[in-house]
Amino acid sequence: MHSFSSAIRHVNLKALFSVIFLGSLCYYAGWLSRWPAPEDSALEWKDFEAKRITITVQAPQATVTVIPEAEEAVVLNGSPTDAFQDNLRHDVRYITTWPGTGFTNEAMSLMNLIYLAMLTERVPILPAFNPSHLSGGSPDTGEVVDTTFGEVFDVPRLAKELRMPILEWWQVKDRKSTTVDSLGCWNVWQATMEHSSGPQYSVMPRKLNIDISWTIAPKWVKLKPDAANEAHAKFTGLMALAFPEQRNRNLRTPSKSPLLGLSLPPNEQLLCFDNLYYTANVEGFEFERDYSTAWRLVGKHLHWNPRIEEIARGYVRRTFGLGVEATIPPYIAIHVRHGDFKGACHTPLDECFAPLSAIARRVNEVKEELQRLKDITAVHIILTSDETNITWWEEVAAYGWYRIDHSATASTYGAWYPVLIDTAIQSEGKGFVGTDRSTVSLIAGRRVKEWNDGVLRSVKWGKVGADNHQGRSKGAQG
Ligand SMILES: *[C@@H]1O[C@H](CO)[C@@H](O)[C@H](O)[C@H]1NC(C)=O
Repeated sequence: MHSFSSAIRHVNLKALFSVIFLGSLCYYAGWLSRWPAPEDSALEWKDFEAKRITITVQAPQATVTVIPEAEEAVVLNGSPTDAFQDNLRHDVRYITTWPGTGFTNEAMSLMNLIYLAMLTERVPILPAFNPSHLSGGSPDTGEVVDTTFGEVFDVPRLAKELRMPILEWWQVKDRKSTTVDSLGCWNVWQATMEHSSGPQYSVMPRKLNIDISWTIAPKWVKLKPDAANEAHAKFTGLMALAFPEQRNRNLRTPSKSPLLGLSLPPNEQLLCFDNLYYTANVEGFEFERDYSTAWRLVGKHLHWNPRIEEIARGYVRRTFGLGVEATIPPYIAIHVRHGDFKGACHTPLDECFAPLSAIARRVNEVKEELQRLKDITAVHIILTSDETNITWWEEVAAYGWYRIDHSATASTYGAWYPVLIDTAIQSEGKGFVGTDRSTVSLIAGRRVKEWNDGVLRSVKWGKVGADNHQGRSKGAQG
């Protein structure tokens, strides 16, 4: 307290009290609740770091770091509450969505969500990832559990780079809460897919005990109004629904919520959409395009949680037979997707999927281009795949390509980690050879290009000779 009394001589008591009060709020709300929101765009984040004030308070016992602009930073009332409404601030507007189609597609949906949050000046609340595509169990319980967005991605870095607050659902609503919250959301799926009978399904609302009443969005949110059952919605269409004029003009009878039987119009404070995977500006599947807004303004800032990065590098070092501190040589990563792509085959599988010889041709193109354009000699090749056929893997080994040993990964880190580690390894390659039409390959390719200025190729498949091509082809997008 001694330091306080000397400080009081210089500081207005009321101001000091509000700083302490804000400090306690920050302590409870956690590190995520800060929003630098600098007015002066020349001001770097490190300037903020330098300007932090450290205040020691007696109760609750903690050393709290307050950023001078912290008034704008607090976007929740405090720690997670049983009913989510209790944690939302009356002066903040939020936006969320309910993805559920596998890790990469969910990540892409959440990039779209954050982009839409920018367009609407709302705070995004990110749900956890669904273990829908995973088998096996967590080390503790034997069950596959959700993994939070922040366990996978570096949320503080994302918030810093985007200069906006980013929230996760676990920060808003207590994970152990059994309180059923009701919420009115827009059903986009039924507006774009005329023959569907409900919103796009996600298990997330049920897991969070959120009972949703749906309002079908107006037809004009469709990207291509004349194309029946074309799933894409326009970002700008959804954006307009975030504001009272278009929202009120397009209200119609909402569906009854499944648990409480309530009929609720779309919530104005917490705007929500069923699924944002199929959202675009100009054409469908824009993540493949150079102008992709969700990639340029959000996705490229979405780096791995440093822990995932470290674990992945440990796997690479062990795979290459290097010491724990060794520098990792430049490598080329390959992603071969078979698994559920079998369903897209109209010929026997060994004719449908690209043979390893076709993949090797692409690897050689990447090697050659790295050497020629960047003076990089890449001799290490890592192949990642969901293929389980042992004979196939033996053929991979015969090419001299490395395989990551995941035999103990799930039991050590949890069922999510084989996928997370493979994806992180792909994104740290100097070169990348992907599978055509795979979103995993698409996003890995964009990361390799963006983060490592790497070289990309993509392997076509579907019929015999699908990837045959003449000479040096242009790099496809993974
Ligand atoms: C396993 O892989 C080998 C080599 O690619 C292939 O000949 C065989 O047909 C595959 N087996 C199955 C069951 O797919």
